[in-house]
Amino acid sequence: MEKIERIINHPDFKLYLSRNRYQETGRVFCSHGFDHLLTVARLTYLLLLERGDTKAVKEIAYAAGLLHDIGRWQEYTGDIDHARAGAELAHPLLVEAGFKSSEIEPILNAIREHRRESPPGKRRHPLSQALYEADLFSRLCFNCPVTEKCRKYPTMPQGNRLCY
Ligand SMILES: [Fe+2]
Ligand SMILES: [Fe+2]
Repeated sequence: MEKIERIINHPDFKLYLSRNRYQETGRVFCSHGFDHLLTVARLTYLLLLERGDTKAVKEIAYAAGLLHDIGRWQEYTGDIDHARAGAELAHPLLVEAGFKSSEIEPILNAIREHRRESPPGKRRHPLSQALYEADLFSRLCFNCPVTEKCRKYPTMPQGNRLCY
């Protein structure tokens, strides 16, 4: 996982995480630190494997998961969609990590689409779908003390099952 090592050791990746951490100091709702990113990376890969995606590449799944929320801090500082912002920030990191452009495109699309359900009747790239679901399954709403105040909770999947 050399490319993943390059991402997590990149000073810009660390900078964006520190900005997320700073903006979320004292936040009672879900946060967007390294733990969340790693959980989503693992779940994304797991879902792709479970779905029999024989072409699933671990580094691609992990890159999407680890980078999907790196632009979150921008949403706190301005009216900016963190999915779009994250894709922009992720692009140079993916290039520097050594991903090919044919790999970068689906990763950036998955990051851009990670907040949205697939439009009815439209099938999207397996990576986009897996990242979207992994992000939801990563949140342990059944064990959360602030669901009543959470804006996102009513939109979460019923019972928000634990993803094994
Ligand atoms: Fe997000
Ligand atoms: Fe997320």
